[in-house]
Amino acid sequence: MPDTRSLGDLIDMQLSQNGPMSIATYMGLALTHPRSGYYTGKDPLGGKGDFITAPEISQMFGELIGFFIVNLWQQLDEPRSFTLLELGPGRGTLMQDALRVAAKADGFLDAMHLQLFESNPALKTQQAERLGQYNPYWATEIDALADDPLIVIANEFFDALPIRQFVKAEDGWHERQVGLRDGKRSFGLSPTPIPDAAMPPEVQSAQPGEIYEVSLAAADVMQRLGKRIGAQRGALLAIDYGYATTQTGETLQAVRNHAFADALDAPGETDLSAHVDFGALSKVATDLGLKVEPLATQRDFLGRLGIVERATALAKANPGQVDAIAAALKRLVDSSEMGTLFKVFCAHSEGLEPIGFS
Ligand SMILES: C[S@@+](CC[C@H](N)C(=O)[O-])C[C@H]1O[C@@H](n2cnc3c(N)ncnc32)[C@H](O)[C@@H]1O
Repeated sequence: MPDTRSLGDLIDMQLSQNGPMSIATYMGLALTHPRSGYYTGKDPLGGKGDFITAPEISQMFGELIGFFIVNLWQQLDEPRSFTLLELGPGRGTLMQDALRVAAKADGFLDAMHLQLFESNPALKTQQAERLGQYNPYWATEIDALADDPLIVIANEFFDALPIRQFVKAEDGWHERQVGLRDGKRSFGLSPTPIPDAAMPPEVQSAQPGEIYEVSLAAADVMQRLGKRIGAQRGALLAIDYGYATTQTGETLQAVRNHAFADALDAPGETDLSAHVDFGALSKVATDLGLKVEPLATQRDFLGRLGIVERATALAKANPGQVDAIAAALKRLVDSSEMGTLFKVFCAHSEGLEPIGFS
């Protein structure tokens, strides 16, 4: 008989049998449980989904990333073979727009091996439809890679990785956990205090009540790919909401149908995400000997890559869409929309000067 229990039922069963779990474990189950996780079931993107991402707003976003990628490939001396890896490619829209631009560079497509890292079968199908002509390869391990130069692109991927939360109290730090109270899922704190010395220096002087978030999964991705980039040359570009230096503050967020929701309600049907600690990623990358560009806002990065000029050209070629193009431009770069909330992070091997940062 098919198992009709919801993911919430399965989590509650685990909580009642094993006691509280970390927020990271809860997020991992809610987002990527093999049968019912948020990122293993339906397509969550777009107007009918729970949120819209930059590449779904306008082709300009992916096109400028395409320009960025070609420039990097040229700086790498146009290797005859290189890997272009996208983490969490969604519907494949960003890469489709990027490769339309990149295809114009002589030899680029012949040299490229396109690799995609994706957990959602419904999105994989869409990626295959949009990117099939480039013969992509879906690896199940993030760093199952050839040993040629590597360019990694990740838009709104890192924010979807699980985080742990720690709350400062008079006697030290306590991990915030998910447990059952009167049969209902709720947050609580682990009983054993963790001393300040176990926390990064940036948060050691926090006041009681402050929250520190850490994503071991994000650090692991940076570590595994950063190692390869250091050895094989290349870069990782990540665009996401986040902050430049490790700090306290709660950012765990739940969204369902374009509206904020309760993080513990309806696991598997609710998007859970957290702001990315780019300071922590930067530390992993520099410890590996990589260079890290100063964190840019999406507004500045796209502006330096020429988004205003691109919007003007696009509007000229599509006079019927002038208003839609202007609205998309505003959405991507205006400070009241995505322009300053979203940041652009780039870690790369020695000797490269990725464009868009200064
Ligand atoms: C917020 S969406 C962004 C999609 C796309 N980059 C865009 O900008 O439209 C997050 C993407 O990462 C994928 N993803 C999330 N967690 C993942 C994981 N642990 N492993 C692999 N892919 C994951 C999702 O399925 C989805 O494709």
